[in-house]
Amino acid sequence: MLGRETEPASFSGELLEQIESEIERLKSLTTGLLGFSRNNKAELTRVDCNEVIRQVLTLIKYEARRAGHSIEEQLGEIEPVLADANQVKQVCINLITNAIQAMKQPGTIVIRTCVHAGKAVHIHIGDTGPGIDQEQKEKIFTPFFTTKPEGEGTGLGLYLCRKIAQEHNGDILVDSTPGQGSTFTFVIPMTTFPFPG
Ligand SMILES: Nc1ncnc2c1ncn2[C@@H]1O[C@H](COP(=O)(O)OP(=O)(O)OP(=O)(O)O)[C@@H](O)[C@H]1O
Ligand SMILES: [Mg+2]
Repeated sequence: MLGRETEPASFSGELLEQIESEIERLKSLTTGLLGFSRNNKAELTRVDCNEVIRQVLTLIKYEARRAGHSIEEQLGEIEPVLADANQVKQVCINLITNAIQAMKQPGTIVIRTCVHAGKAVHIHIGDTGPGIDQEQKEKIFTPFFTTKPEGEGTGLGLYLCRKIAQEHNGDILVDSTPGQGSTFTFVIPMTTFPFPG
C-alpha cells in the first residue's frame, strides 16, 4: 500500500521496491524450508494432471513471457492419478521455474503429458537452456545444491520435487544434452483407485 502512495523514482520508492522483493525472497525461502522439514501427510484424491498444469500455467505464463520465452503445451490423453494435487502442483511450479531461470536467452518450454507403458503418467518439462553436464546430474537433487547466486536459489527445489515424487511411488528423471537443453520428467504411477467413482 505504501508503494502505491510513493513516487516510484524517489529514494523511499526505491527502498519500498527493495522491501517488496526481499519479502518475496523470504517467502520462497520459508516455503522451501517448510517443505524441507514438513511431515504432513499427503491428501490423496483423483487428480487430472492436465488440469493441474493448466492451473500452474495461468500462474506462471506471465513470468515466462516477460523473460521472452514461449510455452508449448502438448497435453495428451491421460488417466487420473491418485495424488496430492497441491504437491503435484508444487513439483510442476518448481520444474517450470527452473526452466525459466535456466534460459538466459529467450527460449521454449515444452510441457508434455502422456501415459507411459500403460502404467504411469509422465509429465515432461523441456527447455532450450544450457543443459546439465553428467557430473552435476545427480548433485542437483541434493538439498542446498545450487548454482544460482546467493539470495536467488536455495537449492531445495529439486530435492523437494524428488521427495514428493517418491512419496507418490514415482520419481523425477532428467535427460540433458549440454548446450541444447534439459528435459525433466515427473513420473506418477497410475494406481487402482481404492474408492469407486
Ligand atoms: N532446467 C534446468 N536447466 C539447467 N540447470 C538446471 C535446471 N534445473 C535445475 N538446474 C540446476 O540444478 C540446480 C538445483 O536446482 P534446484 O531447483 O534444486 O535449486 P535452485 O533452483 O538453485 O534453487 P531453488 O529451487 O531452491 O530456488 C540449479 O541451481 C541448477 O544449477
Ligand atoms: Mg529451483
